[in-house]
Amino acid sequence: MEKVIKKIICANWKMNPLTLKEAEKLVNDIAKNITTIKKTEIAVCPPFLYLEKLRKISKKIIIGAQDAFPGDVGAFTGEVSAEMLYLLGTKYVILGHSERRALGETNDDVNKKIKASIASGLYPILCVGERTRDESHDYFNLIKTQLEVCLSGISKNSTAKIIVAYEPIWAISTTPDRRDATADDSREMAVFIRKNLFDKFGKDATQIRVLYGGSVNEKTAGDFLENGGVDGLLVGQASLDAKKFSTIIKTCEALNK
Ligand code: 13P
Repeated sequence: MEKVIKKIICANWKMNPLTLKEAEKLVNDIAKNITTIKKTEIAVCPPFLYLEKLRKISKKIIIGAQDAFPGDVGAFTGEVSAEMLYLLGTKYVILGHSERRALGETNDDVNKKIKASIASGLYPILCVGERTRDESHDYFNLIKTQLEVCLSGISKNSTAKIIVAYEPIWAISTTPDRRDATADDSREMAVFIRKNLFDKFGKDATQIRVLYGGSVNEKTAGDFLENGGVDGLLVGQASLDAKKFSTIIKTCEALNK
């Protein structure tokens, strides 16, 4: 029997909210709204310092981090290791987000972090995405390279732990002069990503969930989930509003009948 891939709605809170109190309220409010959700996996990735408190609020809300440094302990001022995150009860870790790449993170850095995260027991969410598109369609090569280098040396045995999120930078809510991506844009790239993963991992690649992220809100989530060729969504801005984020989760659940 073919294995059913569970859809996931994941919140990337980025550097928000300002206080632990607000963070706890947000998760509590989401938790109240999702008591009937059964088929959809729900993850929230807050700033590091809220992880420990938030993970205790609801069994239905899985906690993820937004970065992880390779290793366990050591002389790395300011860093938080993959092993520390795992031991704290963190499951997911967003790696290679465009906002971290903009600070200088390379595909090689992301590769090291993915390897360390898997070794520690974390489930990496690898973000890929192009800054711009043009007629030459060169962005396909960029995504191919991101996948190739970031997943280099990862074995087939780890595919069930990996998620790939396609996030075109030009569609992210905070990008100046942004424009909307369509479900067609998402589907085209999801197919391309799956093809590349299949070339690398063979049929084990079908275990890797592919997500879309970039200005998804409660109005557009259904279209991306239905027509975007993806197994879930990575939500920024709209995930900071309990009502909007809960509506996105409920939309996913309703489509999963
Ligand atoms: P927005 O939903 O705010 O565009 O953010 C997308 C994102 O970067 C999620 O990781």
